[in-house]
Amino acid sequence: MRALVYDGTTTELIEGIELCAPGPRDVIVQVAAAGLCQSDLSYMAGLYPVPHPGVCGHEAAGVVAEIGAAVTHVAAGDHVVISTLAACGFCEFCADGRPTACRATLGGSRKPFTDVDGVEINNFASTSAFAERTIVRDVQCVKIPKDVPLTSAALVGCGVVTGVGAVINRAKVQRGQTAVVFGVGGVGLNVIQALRIVGSPTIIAVDINAEKADLATQFGATHFIDGTADDVVAQVAAICPASPQADRGWFNSGGVDFAFDCVAKAPVTWNALECLDWNGTAVVVGVAGQTDEFKGLYSRLTQVERTLVGCRYGSIAPHRDIPMIIELYRSGQLMLDELVTASYPVEDWKRAVHELESGAVARGVITFGS
Ligand SMILES: NC(=O)c1ccc[n+]([C@@H]2O[C@H](COP(=O)([O-])OP(=O)(O)OC[C@H]3O[C@@H](n4cnc5c(N)ncnc54)[C@H](O)[C@@H]3O)[C@@H](O)[C@H]2O)c1
Ligand SMILES: [Zn+2]
Ligand SMILES: [Zn+2]
Repeated sequence: MRALVYDGTTTELIEGIELCAPGPRDVIVQVAAAGLCQSDLSYMAGLYPVPHPGVCGHEAAGVVAEIGAAVTHVAAGDHVVISTLAACGFCEFCADGRPTACRATLGGSRKPFTDVDGVEINNFASTSAFAERTIVRDVQCVKIPKDVPLTSAALVGCGVVTGVGAVINRAKVQRGQTAVVFGVGGVGLNVIQALRIVGSPTIIAVDINAEKADLATQFGATHFIDGTADDVVAQVAAICPASPQADRGWFNSGGVDFAFDCVAKAPVTWNALECLDWNGTAVVVGVAGQTDEFKGLYSRLTQVERTLVGCRYGSIAPHRDIPMIIELYRSGQLMLDELVTASYPVEDWKRAVHELESGAVARGVITFGS
């Protein structure tokens, strides 16, 4: 079969890749569609401290092809969204419904693929979705109804859970609370629509690409600010002023209750903290290089009780949150089909990368013919 392999220097679509047989708790999934997330580009750029060569891709949906002897909750033919969390199921974090903190979900790589020369190839993010078939742990397969298009369902596997989960699980935004969202990509759009769903009255989108304004509005943003402006923080404060007399007040009051940084560059994280009202929370969702630094003012945190947190994979519990997201979609509250602005057969994967880099798409999806 064909798979997209990053070898530590370049990424190529390779023919003749073989998959190992499933162990007792493994599931082989025929990948129908896989979204291209910025994190895939980071892996292909060598920014992640994980092994290579590896089969790329981590945001997918497909059809169960084969199950291991001990798998009971899915069967061949079922439609599934693949979660990247190969959680152990037994540790204190799994027991607490927080598998994103389970030690088994980061750094543990396996080598389920081989090339024509017999060289073993790693998986990526426990998923490896840019392959015609992949192998995952049973716990990673979340069964979904067959009326959900697999191209749309694929995005639930990362961008959607990451954005929606950041709002409902990590930030726990309440109706009436205000927010700014930096980076209107596949993740940021889902932050925006989750804010709309929970009832945020003011949702300010910021992107350096002015063409993202319409998309941001379509998903629920009430305001759009050009991220290249040097007064982004002042514009946010003008929308959410401290009082009718002054945009900012004592100890930098005024601004929003939540700032979501879906970019993770130092100036953006700085702005995210600066945009916060008293008691506000900045949630960093973007992933930067392992040694990249940011800076901020101590006074913002201590005076007055602002919070800065990171959020991995929407802090989700996949078997709770993915069915909830699918039901929000089926009831017309959450947009999935509109997120897919382009789909590419796998042989056109370089075009998908180019269009993601140029900001031309909300999300591009790679599809696999037989
Ligand atoms: N925390 C997680 O678990 C998790 C999961 C998925 C993705 N991510 C990360 O989230 C980030 C966003 O991913 P994505 O797939 O949505 O990317 P994307 O490429 O689809 O979107 C990024 C957006 O940010 C905009 N942008 C870039 N620089 C900006 C700036 N300085 N100010 C404002 N906007 C700016 C771009 O124009 C683009 O619209 C990436 O860093 C990705 O690696 C994190
Ligand atoms: Zn665990
Ligand atoms: Zn992702």
